[in-house]
Amino acid sequence: MLIHSASQLLTIAGTPQRGNSLGKLNILEDGAVLIGDGKIKKVGKSKELLDAYPEELKINANNKVVMPGFVDPHTHAVWAGSRAAEFELKLEGKSYLEILASGGGILSTVTETRKASFNELVDQTRDRLWKMLQYGSTTIEVKTGYGLNIESEIKMLKVVLELDNEGPWNLMPTFLGAHAIPPEYKDNTQGYTNFVCEEMLPAILEWWNENTGRKKLPFVDVFCETGAFDINQTKQIFDAARKLGFKLKVHADEFDNLGGASLAVDYKAISADHLVVTSSDDISSLGTSNTVAVALPGTPFGLGHSEYTPAKKILEADGILAIASDLNPGTTWCENMQMPIALACRFMKLTPAQAIVAATLNAAAAIDRDRDIGSIEVGKNADLLMLSVVDYRQLGYQYGTNLVKTVVKNGKVISFNEDIN
Ligand code: NIG
Ligand code: FE
Repeated sequence: MLIHSASQLLTIAGTPQRGNSLGKLNILEDGAVLIGDGKIKKVGKSKELLDAYPEELKINANNKVVMPGFVDPHTHAVWAGSRAAEFELKLEGKSYLEILASGGGILSTVTETRKASFNELVDQTRDRLWKMLQYGSTTIEVKTGYGLNIESEIKMLKVVLELDNEGPWNLMPTFLGAHAIPPEYKDNTQGYTNFVCEEMLPAILEWWNENTGRKKLPFVDVFCETGAFDINQTKQIFDAARKLGFKLKVHADEFDNLGGASLAVDYKAISADHLVVTSSDDISSLGTSNTVAVALPGTPFGLGHSEYTPAKKILEADGILAIASDLNPGTTWCENMQMPIALACRFMKLTPAQAIVAATLNAAAAIDRDRDIGSIEVGKNADLLMLSVVDYRQLGYQYGTNLVKTVVKNGKVISFNEDIN
């Protein structure tokens, strides 16, 4: 298959882009890409590729942008129910952490998710994944964390694997047993932390190895925050997870600066996410590491807050910056990766080019996949988007409508049921 006549083919070729080098799109004008066996076979000018491969099935990009699929490296896409009532409470003045402390928030989704059957969860999640794909996310990280006991956490992992097998998207699972303190451990965070380390993590590993046939383990993530896990408990969970061979991620500095980002760097975590109230020391350590700083601008927006990830400072410090949706029922019910791009441009002052790299190649690095996705380069998976616009800067600038016209996933053109959106 040959996609040709792209006004701008954003190849984003190269390695993840650090610091102020962020934003190199490596644009090929009047570009074309040859796809075979689900992979990218050749990238070049339209004329050159049309002449060389006259027999290929051709898809005309009609002088519009072609770019890599978005990689969404931080989502909580599996859950049951809705927290619309809490949204109203928040508008009336209750804070996110107050709601959590009174047994709502994450815990109300835990109640719903524990109650839901495997099939109900698969159905509700599938619906969201189709929307995400339609808006251009071709690879999606998905966390557990609404089970908070062994049985329900495994149920969530099974949902992720089931839907990954079903495709056409690719999903990257993350175990987030340390997301909140379940009611059984109320006022006993340390007891639950010990349970996560001594029982849950080994049980998850054993279940994974015996049942999934997959070598690559899920990531392990911790919500390092006031009202969730403090820095010592985060460290304890990191130690236990690392010993068992898991790669690490952290939710840090969403509301309070507890030092989770520097801890993530010390543990060579794959990513540190949120990073809204991150200290300058934490930013400096991110800048000297390969731990990807994942900004989730949909979250302060969803909470109606005015403070966003200090992206410019992270870039100044030479950090690797990515963007994700943080899709979740509490703060950020938004399946559309074009929305965090638009927010990052306005509130984190990224250029569209910087936001696009942060949502593709650097986002791939945030889930340890930059070697096979995130850019249009020979040998990588053929995960591409054909946009409805001529100039890539329309992304970020125009918002609230879907600028993705066609999605190509693993070399297959995906057509959408018109009813989905
Ligand atoms: O990344 N902050 C913790 N976890 C999610 C929110 C989850 C929820 O509220 O259900 C986040 O924003
Ligand atoms: Fe999150």
